[in-house]
Amino acid sequence: MLNWFRAGNGTIAILDATNSTKSRRRWIQERCTAENIEALYVESKCDDQNIIMSNIMEVKTTSPDYRGKDPEVAAQDFLNRIRNYEKVYQTIDEDEKDLTYVKLINVGKHVIINKIQDYLQSRVVYYLMNLHIRPRSIWLSRHGESKYNLEGKLGGDADLSDRGEQYARALPELVRRSVGDGRKLTVWTSTLKRTIQTTRFLPFEKLEWKALDELDCGVCDGLTYAEVEERYPEDFQARDDDKYNYRYLGGESYRDVVIRLEPIIMELERSENILIVTHQAILRCIYAYFQNVEQEKSPWMEVPLHTLIRLTPKAYATQEERLKADIPAVSTWRGKGSAARHQGSPSASGMGTPKESGATPSMMSSVGTPSPKLPPPAVWPL
Ligand code: F6P
Repeated sequence: MLNWFRAGNGTIAILDATNSTKSRRRWIQERCTAENIEALYVESKCDDQNIIMSNIMEVKTTSPDYRGKDPEVAAQDFLNRIRNYEKVYQTIDEDEKDLTYVKLINVGKHVIINKIQDYLQSRVVYYLMNLHIRPRSIWLSRHGESKYNLEGKLGGDADLSDRGEQYARALPELVRRSVGDGRKLTVWTSTLKRTIQTTRFLPFEKLEWKALDELDCGVCDGLTYAEVEERYPEDFQARDDDKYNYRYLGGESYRDVVIRLEPIIMELERSENILIVTHQAILRCIYAYFQNVEQEKSPWMEVPLHTLIRLTPKAYATQEERLKADIPAVSTWRGKGSAARHQGSPSASGMGTPKESGATPSMMSSVGTPSPKLPPPAVWPL
């Protein structure tokens, strides 16, 4: 970890190790202080046998340590491991008052904090307090195709196109197939018409979030990529060179969006089953958080219209499943360095050329591969 810091790789590291004795923590403290690094200790203490057993069955038996092992054998082995640790384990307490720490007891039922002294530490504590381990999924969808999407225009507050309207009508059945009967969801939308129109047939509680509005393209709002390239050629190039950091004149960058999504992420971590219907750039940021996609890559991901994505966070990976409504839509994706137009849009190649609407909403399902676990706070500004 110290080498990683010395090489200038980042500003926050997580030292995930058995720092379970007072002497070990003291040693870490001394090493960190000598390198001018602030340490925050996180202890998660659990004496609730039900939580312990369900955690072992759900998490430990799928851990890389037990790959290919009989779950019963793995569970027994892990219980023995706990017993061995108990012999030497010393909880963090009063006689370590000079250390900065957060102690979570029985997954946050009781939280003790000590010497939390700056903004970042307080955000980390808040984040940890919001985490839970109950099983849940998050469903993500873009709004139905909009009239602006058809014209290749950015931003705005357009209504749905006819096919977008069809997607709105098909969404309750798509959701039912993925969620199952009887499970309640809460639906989050942006404050823009196209997301609200898309969710209007869903029989669930709905919440509108300004923080879920599409990336603000400032002076480029209402323009097509071609018009942006023509009017602001240097900006167009600068965005291609560093899309994550590029901020539209009078508007936002992806970095800005990630920061404004912080309350959404916090609320998502506290919540159970949520369906978010929002916009291309916003979905990229939320998806990247759960699937650990690098900052340079996330703004270039393809997030197709008329597709419902289900993410199920697990201990070592977030599982992903996609359901595609059989309702055609234009592609609004444009690759790095490519011509200033949506790829696959009618003007580009004929792919995605609007087909006759009226297609029956049948579902195609594809199951994605599990991706790495949530990124550490180092890549997500808390
Ligand atoms: O084209 C649809 C859209 O949601 C626009 O409103 C928005 O400006 C754009 O996608 C964001 O995608 P990108 O960052 O790739 O331009």
